[in-house]
Amino acid sequence: MTEQQAGLSRTDFPDNFIWGTATASYQIEGAVEEDGRGPSIWDTFSHTPGKTSNGDTGDVADNHYHLYRRDVALMRQIGLNGYRFSISWPRILPEGRGQINQKGLDFYNRLVDELASNNILPFATLYHWDLPQALQDKGGWANRDTAKYFADYADKVSRKLGDRVKGWITLNEPWVAAVLGNLTGEHAPGLSSMETTVRAAHHLLLGHGLALPVLRENSQRADAEFGATLSFNYVEPGDDHSEELAILKDAWDNRFFLDPLFKKNYPEELAGIINQYLPVEPGDMDIIGTPVDFLGVNYYFRTLPVAYEDKAKLTFKQRKNPGSQYTAMGWEVYPEGLRNLLVRFHKDYNVPKLYVTENGAAFEDRLQQDQSGAVVHDPDRLNYLRDHFEAARQAIKDGAPLAGYFVWSLLDNFEWAHGYSKRFGIVYVDYQNQQRVLKDSGKWLQQFLEK
Ligand code: FCB
Repeated sequence: MTEQQAGLSRTDFPDNFIWGTATASYQIEGAVEEDGRGPSIWDTFSHTPGKTSNGDTGDVADNHYHLYRRDVALMRQIGLNGYRFSISWPRILPEGRGQINQKGLDFYNRLVDELASNNILPFATLYHWDLPQALQDKGGWANRDTAKYFADYADKVSRKLGDRVKGWITLNEPWVAAVLGNLTGEHAPGLSSMETTVRAAHHLLLGHGLALPVLRENSQRADAEFGATLSFNYVEPGDDHSEELAILKDAWDNRFFLDPLFKKNYPEELAGIINQYLPVEPGDMDIIGTPVDFLGVNYYFRTLPVAYEDKAKLTFKQRKNPGSQYTAMGWEVYPEGLRNLLVRFHKDYNVPKLYVTENGAAFEDRLQQDQSGAVVHDPDRLNYLRDHFEAARQAIKDGAPLAGYFVWSLLDNFEWAHGYSKRFGIVYVDYQNQQRVLKDSGKWLQQFLEK
């Protein structure tokens, strides 16, 4: 750590920079059968034996549906001025389409009000993977109609919340939704077909493009912004022989969704794999490439591919870097990757604005008692955040138009197939009693924001 990093503070970033945390509906809300919510593909998947670690489900999670006031108070206590949350489609439309479930919409209405009264800017993600099961039963994202239902859902939500939401994010990490859900099967709906994956990918993008003008139309905030969030990892060749492999992995992991959004085409490098399945209809690429106001960047790690693991599924064997630290997810800590990616989006894609919409780390946390009460000492997470903030600062110096940063995550939560075994929060959650304890990393963030 340089002296500069040790003293890093809010004032090292532009005025009006937004500092927030991010969460997702299925990971924190619980209350899966309350107030008319319909089932999502994650309810089905997590309740299928063998799909999640320890058989964990989101049935209760952080009970945020009931404790949201307490959670907003925590954000305020930390000094955050933004919050990225996601809206559960099956709470709003239990069947995925048709009649609004008013009570479901009321929850987000209350949440957004609560944020506003605490001076926290709401950034709402419309799709963070919890597709209504009723739509999956009709083919899910592989069915073109799902893109239209998505735009309709976006319409219903934004009519109600469009006067207060500052940032609208159509999709969260569509790559993960398409690929882990339909090719590797690690996520809901747990399928393994390249054709379904490619169809789902295209219709996710189409849904995004169809929703954008609807959101713009319904928004009543003059400063509202509209974009999408993608997942990225920083790919470098694992050895002298894997240059080409790294280019392909980068095209698959990072450009499969980025290029259509900003260049209106799919990467050439993927043509042999995806073109035979792509259900592109005339006009689609223009809809998909409708200009956004920002790109949301989720960044966690670097990858060093050395060979294919399973060529048909485009999975790769990777080298571990002996000098590096790895998180509890097995992800390499590599802040420089964030800097390089942000600069690349600026230089190669001319992205108008960037937000880091997720960044953070899972480590083994232990709840302890000291004189002051319950504490969690998490120096690794604290260092991770500080070093990535510093990388973001460097990227801004290099010209990247970064306007905000959302730490993943506010709370420990349901980490998908890993269940509750991985903790990403800057706030510890005791799942026995729903107690929240601000970890050392959260206290550090609080100090960082105070200065
Ligand atoms: C991202 C997801 C988020 C969380 C983090 C750790 O891929 O968007 O929900 O699981 O990883």
